[in-house]
Amino acid sequence: MRTALVAGNWKMNGDSAFINELMSSLTTAAGSSNIDVLVCPPAVYLSQVKEFTQSCSIALGAQNVSEHPNGAFTGEISLAMLNDLGCEYVILGHSERRSLYGETDTVVADKFIAAVDAGLKPILCVGETLEERESGATIDIVSRQLKAVIDSAGIDKFSDAVVAYEPVWAIGTGKTATAEQAQEVHAAIRAILAESDSVIAAKIRILYGGSVNAANAAELFANEDVDGGLVGGASLKANDFIAICHAAGA
Ligand code: PGA
Repeated sequence: MRTALVAGNWKMNGDSAFINELMSSLTTAAGSSNIDVLVCPPAVYLSQVKEFTQSCSIALGAQNVSEHPNGAFTGEISLAMLNDLGCEYVILGHSERRSLYGETDTVVADKFIAAVDAGLKPILCVGETLEERESGATIDIVSRQLKAVIDSAGIDKFSDAVVAYEPVWAIGTGKTATAEQAQEVHAAIRAILAESDSVIAAKIRILYGGSVNAANAAELFANEDVDGGLVGGASLKANDFIAICHAAGA
């Protein structure tokens, strides 16, 4: 049995006061959960959030990381720094990183390898644009994004990894994939992984992301191959995020 994971991707939102309020509510609710819960704040607030997560079962993650170990990379953050701050997970290849910051499949694969080697658990994001879905290319796109990492990193590096299927057209739009659309792609992702290693494929968690909210989470998470969610907007509202966590644990 796979333990569900609900991850909050706060993106570039919040300030110190907001984060204190949000984390106070989340840690109060965290206690008896039978799922894994993760928050990924902006990097400058990782230490502040760590103050809360160190005394409860919520895990800490980052939204991005450099593929380089250290050096002259102005504005970048290294894996050693994330380890130093107590991060367990790192989101990689989010569609906003791919489309706005030019991250290619190769860069994402390099980050994935570096993250695993540094002992962090990568959350590898894949997903198609609306145009790609409408032209029937969804599985091809997701397969290309996934295989780029499998081919470069090797399947063994997926042992502790997480994959997130995030259709680009569903991110921040209020438009969610239907339960059937999500299950179809999640099953395809698992099948692609199984071509390399059926044990890893059976055990890996595949999250759905894209306008997950308190109202639609239960239906999405009820699918066999949907093992939780990567949640953006709704992770900034304590009650909504808690409701999504409960839906994953039900
Ligand atoms: P959203 O974002 O829930 O606001 O659609 C999800 C994500 O980008 O990870």
